[in-house]
Amino acid sequence: MASYSIIIFYALFACTLCLISSTSSAQLTPNFYAKSCPKVFETVTSVVRSAVSKEKRMGASLLRLHFHDCFVNGCDGSILLDDTTSFTGEKTAGPNLNSVRGFDVIDNIKSNVEKACPGVVSCADIVAISALESVVALGGPGWNIKLGRRDSKTASLSAANSGVIPPPSSTVANLINRFQARGLSVKDMVALSGAHTIGQARCTTFRARVFNDTNIDTSFAKSRQSSCPFPTGSGDNNLAPLDVQTPASFDNAYYKNLIGKRGLLRSDQQLYSGGATDSLVENYGKNAGSFHADFAAAMVKMGDISPLTGSNGEIRKNCRKVNS
Ligand code: HEM
Ligand SMILES: *[C@@H]1O[C@H](CO)[C@@H](O)[C@H](O)[C@H]1NC(C)=O
Repeated sequence: MASYSIIIFYALFACTLCLISSTSSAQLTPNFYAKSCPKVFETVTSVVRSAVSKEKRMGASLLRLHFHDCFVNGCDGSILLDDTTSFTGEKTAGPNLNSVRGFDVIDNIKSNVEKACPGVVSCADIVAISALESVVALGGPGWNIKLGRRDSKTASLSAANSGVIPPPSSTVANLINRFQARGLSVKDMVALSGAHTIGQARCTTFRARVFNDTNIDTSFAKSRQSSCPFPTGSGDNNLAPLDVQTPASFDNAYYKNLIGKRGLLRSDQQLYSGGATDSLVENYGKNAGSFHADFAAAMVKMGDISPLTGSNGEIRKNCRKVNS
């Protein structure tokens, strides 16, 4: 009996160690470039600020780029790789094609960062810092960003198409599952969805909702239908703001919209549809500070998804292609 409990004790101890060491996120650190590239923040920030002042939506696009990078095999810059005759990346995947944007801004940042500190800063970290500076530029919270991600030498079209990035037709159960698969809680998921307080969506992503759903404000549905024709099927790329009130401001209006049945995507309204996430939505709708704090904490967690660190991966010279 006694030896049994000793064995169990050692097994638990060993497993605690193995959990600690397998969480390679411990290797990301806020001061990663403090010595090797102290100007990285000011360099990224100045390009992000000028891009966002030219077009507010770009802040939304850069934030989304980080999400789509992280959910597909980790935050490793894989989404940035261009297709070539001999290489297929993630840009043509369903959730990305004609949809993700901001690649030119990332190229511009990379070339400025390379001038300041050649060969030091990864594209994956540039995407992560750009997301942070975009949120700040639009009035949202900052966070203590962790750095030290390296860039992948591969990408996966099939992973990007596999549903790990949930579709806008998702039920709340699917949203919860997909985020839990990335180590993110229900609360993280509801807070991160608040990213939809900025940016735009194409008609093809919300047509079924505004024509067929019943948990939608009638006049809101009518006004969205007018720019998203059915059944002609035209206008697939017509845009509408994800937040009907303040689409260029990182406020908590997204949650107020959900409470008023004015969520644009079916997946948005799922967060306030009589289920377990209603109370989180109500809290964030009442309390912008609580939304900002939980969003910031969840962004740190999302940025920690399976990074390449140490000698894994590489520091790409050009974010669009692996080093030769
Ligand atoms: C909860 C599951 C999510 C679903 C189902 C979802 C779905 C979508 C869809 C369908 C669009 C419109 C795409 C288009 O029309 O081309 C969109 C846009 C956007 N998403 Fe999400 N999203 C989710 C979570 C997130 C998260 C976690 C973030 C960031 C933290 C995010 C940030 C954005 C932003 C900022 C936009 C607007 C982009 C722009 O204007 O360029 N989304 N999302
Ligand atoms: C609405 O639902 C009907 C019946 O399922 C379907 O035929 C139609 O295509 C749907 N409309 C949209 C805009 O998705």
